[in-house]
Amino acid sequence: MVGDVLDGLGGVRFSSRSPKAEARSRMAARILDGSRIASDIRNEVAAEVKAMASGGVRPGLAVVLVGHNPASEIYVRGKAKVCEEVGIYSEQHTPAETATTAELLALVHDLNGRDEIDGILVQLPLPQQVDSKQVLMAVDPAKDVDGFHPVNVGFLSTQRAGLVPCTPAGVIEILTRSNIPIAGQEAVVVGRSDIVGKPVAMLLINANATVTVCHSKTHDLPGVCRRADILVAAIGRAGMITRDFVKPGATVIDVGMNKVTDTAEFQRLFAGGLARNAKREETFRTRGSTLVGDVHPEVTEIAGALTPVPGGVGPLTIAMLMYNTVKAARMRRGSRIPEMSRV
Ligand code: GUN
Repeated sequence: MVGDVLDGLGGVRFSSRSPKAEARSRMAARILDGSRIASDIRNEVAAEVKAMASGGVRPGLAVVLVGHNPASEIYVRGKAKVCEEVGIYSEQHTPAETATTAELLALVHDLNGRDEIDGILVQLPLPQQVDSKQVLMAVDPAKDVDGFHPVNVGFLSTQRAGLVPCTPAGVIEILTRSNIPIAGQEAVVVGRSDIVGKPVAMLLINANATVTVCHSKTHDLPGVCRRADILVAAIGRAGMITRDFVKPGATVIDVGMNKVTDTAEFQRLFAGGLARNAKREETFRTRGSTLVGDVHPEVTEIAGALTPVPGGVGPLTIAMLMYNTVKAARMRRGSRIPEMSRV
C-alpha cells in the first residue's frame, strides 16, 4: 500500500501516514471505479466498430430530444461526444417542446425505416402532452437501444438475446469486472422503476442471485437492506441509504444522481468521519451545488465495496448505450454479437 514500509527484521508494519489517516484507510470501503470500467468498455466498443468498418458497416444512433430540459440536454451532448469517440455515426432530432404524440410517432416511424440507423433513443422525460408509452412502443424493438420496448423487457425476463436497459446492464458490468460474485448472493434492490429497479432485479435473478425488490411500502426497509450482500440503491433521494441499511462488508451500488444545493442538506451528508471531503466542500462553496447519490457517504465506513457518485454507475450508462448500438447493428445484420458483455 502506498506509504507503507515493512521492517525487514521483525516484519512489523510501519506507516508514513498519521495514525488517524491509517485508521481511515483501513475502514474505508473499496471504491469501484466506474469511470475506468466505462473507459474499458468504450475501448472495446471502438475496436468492434473498427472491425465492422472493414466490412463496410458503420453503426448509427439517432437520439430524439424534445424541448429544452437542461439535464436531458447535458446527457444528449454526452452521448453524441462518446459516439464520435468510438466511431459510431450519430444524429440528433430536436422537436419543439410543443410536439404532439402524432408528430413523434411519425419521426420514430421514419427512423425505423432507415437502414443506416441501428439504434433509436427517445430521451425521457417527454413533455406531458405526449403519450410516452405509445412513443416508446413505436420504436422497432431491433433498434430499441434503451431496452424499454415490451418485446425487449420480455426477452430479458425469459433470457433471450435482446437489448438490455443501459444503466442496469452497467451495474452488472461493474460487479463482474470487479470480480464480485453474484450467484448465490442475497441482492436487495431499492426502487422498482421500469428503467432501473425492475431490469436490474431481473438481471440479478438471471445471474442466480436471490433478489428482493423494495419500494415505498416495504416494511422495515433498513432491516431488509441489511440482509443484502449486494445492495442496489435506485430511489432518487440524496443520501437515504445510511449506515443502518448496510451489512458490514456488503457491496453497495449507488444508482442515484441527486443535485444538492441546500447547505443544511450538505452538512447532513458530509459533516463528519470518512464522509468529510475537503475537495467536495470546495466545489459546493464555489458552484453552490454537488452531485450526490442515494447512499449516504458514511456508508463507506461499513460497506466492503462501494460505487462513488460521481464516477460510479453514471459513466456506465453511456458506455452501455454504445455497446447496445453495436449489438443492434450486429443483430440486425444477423451477425455475431460482441462478446464483451455478460448481460
Ligand atoms: N432519461 C434518463 N435516463 C434515461 C435513459 O436511460 N434513457 C432515456 N431514453 N432517457 C433517459
